Parts: sequence; structure tokens; C-alpha cells
Amino acid sequence: GTTLGASAAESGRYFGTAVAANKLSDSTYVGILNREFKMVTAENEMKIDALEPTQGQFTYTNADRIVNHAVGQGMRVRGHTLAWHSQQPTWMQNMSGTALRNAMLNHVTKVATYYRGKIHSWDVVNEAFQDGTSGARRDSNLQRTGNDWIEAAFRAARAADSSAKLCYNDYNTDNWSHAKTQAVYRMVQDFKARGVPIDCVGFQAHFNSGNPVPSNYHTTLQNFAALGVDVQITELDIEGSGSSQAQQYQGIVQACLAVTRCNGITVWGIRDSDSWRASGTPLLFDSSGNKKAAYTSVLNAL
Ligand code: XIL
Repeated sequence: GTTLGASAAESGRYFGTAVAANKLSDSTYVGILNREFKMVTAENEMKIDALEPTQGQFTYTNADRIVNHAVGQGMRVRGHTLAWHSQQPTWMQNMSGTALRNAMLNHVTKVATYYRGKIHSWDVVNEAFQDGTSGARRDSNLQRTGNDWIEAAFRAARAADSSAKLCYNDYNTDNWSHAKTQAVYRMVQDFKARGVPIDCVGFQAHFNSGNPVPSNYHTTLQNFAALGVDVQITELDIEGSGSSQAQQYQGIVQACLAVTRCNGITVWGIRDSDSWRASGTPLLFDSSGNKKAAYTSVLNAL
């Protein structure tokens, strides 16, 4: 293929990007988006603070801009994210206990119902585990409602939308030997054993020199897939430049392609200037929209 989307499709996979609604009027941005990508994730527009800024009042305008653009272009949508400790509206940040549990479940139900039929995969729960060596859940207002909050969110999402794939999404889960990776693995194993509805695990894959692509990345993806879930790389970016960056991107793509159930890769933005990273050049297109060496290595590896 001559584009990322077409090349990934040759092996039945998708290639996607994060999209910001306010960039859909930038013709360079939209030109690359429409040419290269077959899946989009709203970078911020489907987060809890964006969709439910006031409790019980849902605001879908910006999210719908992205969804409608995607549908019009024949792209699919990854929903991001129904339940998360971060980017909560103020009203939710100030809640706890049963009231918070019910507010979270209502949010999951309302949003998944609104988008029923339009979402390929939902990141139902994002970033629920701690970094470091504990393997524990991350402390958050949601976690303090009870350890079963994650499965409750998955069950509510399935009840609202029986066809979207339901994913758990996290970062620092790339290295198979890390405690956080093992802890997420045990949760997915437990969910599969008990029939909690989970279909996929997303690996954010934000890499830099302090957090490089691990050499056992393929092992991690393969071991999760063996639990009976699809795996996806959901927010890929790698700080660096030139051939070193290109090689790391190639390694990620090769690791995914070596795992049958690794069925999609999404980069977290289009041009370096679109990146959430404060500095650096972590993406596949330079700030003018030109293809970088990393682009070519990804295209060739797909
Ligand atoms: C980031 C966005 O890119 C930024 O624009 C925003 O200010 C903060 O969130 N993990 C996730 C994403 O799951 O939602 C985050 O996106 C990046 C880290």
C-alpha cells in the first residue's frame, strides 16, 4: 500500500490517529488525516469533562464533529474514554462513594448509548493501575468506591452497546517483567475467567529515552492476546528523530504484526506540532506535514 491505512488493511489491521476537533479546519492536517488514516480517536473531546461538564447535561458537539468527519470518510472510531481518574469535570472530582459510583455508571450508560452503532472500540476504563513495583490499583475517587468499579463500568458499557469492543487501556504496561504489566494481565485473566465483558487491551505506547521500547514488547502483546482478547497500540508516540526514531517505530509495528490478535495501531497525533508532548518530535509527520523517516519505516514494516 501507499498509505498507512491501506498498508495496515492488507493484513486486516487498522492504522489510526488521535484527532482534535479544532484542527478539522486546518487543510494540511485534514489532507493527511483523510489520506493516511482509517481509525480516529478523539484526543480530548470524548473525555468525561468534555461530554458531561455539568452533571446530567451532556455536550456532544465537539465529539460529534470528529465522529461525523470519520463517518463521512469511511473511518472508524475508537471511543476514549468512559471512566478515568483524570480529566473529570469538577462536579465529579468532588464526589465519592455511592453517589460517584452511580454518576460514573450513568455516564458510561448515557455516552455508550448515544454512540451505539458508531464506535468500533471503547476505552471503557483508562489508567487504573499504579506505576512502580506495587502492582496495586491507582488510588482515585473511583477506586475508593470499591475494587469492583472497573468491572461495573465494563458491564454497564456492554449493556448499553452490545456490539462495540470493550477495552482496558493503560501506559507503562509494555515491559512484560514490570509489576504494572503483570497486574493488568491478572485483572484481564480474572475478567475472562468470571465472564466480565472485556474484548481488548490497549497499550498507550508513549515512549522516550527514559521509557524506551522494551525488547520483550512482542512477548507482552502475545501473552495478553493468549488470554483471548484483542490487543491494540492506542496512543503511540516516540520522542527522538532520524533513523533511531524510525527504528523504534519499526520495532513496534513488527511486534504488533507478529501477533495475530494485535489488530490495530493508533499514533497520538499527526504532525510533531500536533503532539501533546511539551517538546520533541515524536510523530510521523514534521510540523509542515512532510513525511519523516519514521513514517517511511512504519509504512515499509506494515
Ligand atoms: C492527553 C491529550 O493529548 C492532551 O491534549 C491533554 O491535555 C491531556 O491528555 N494518556 C491518555 C490520553 O489516555 O487521553 C492523554 O491525552 C495522553 C496520555
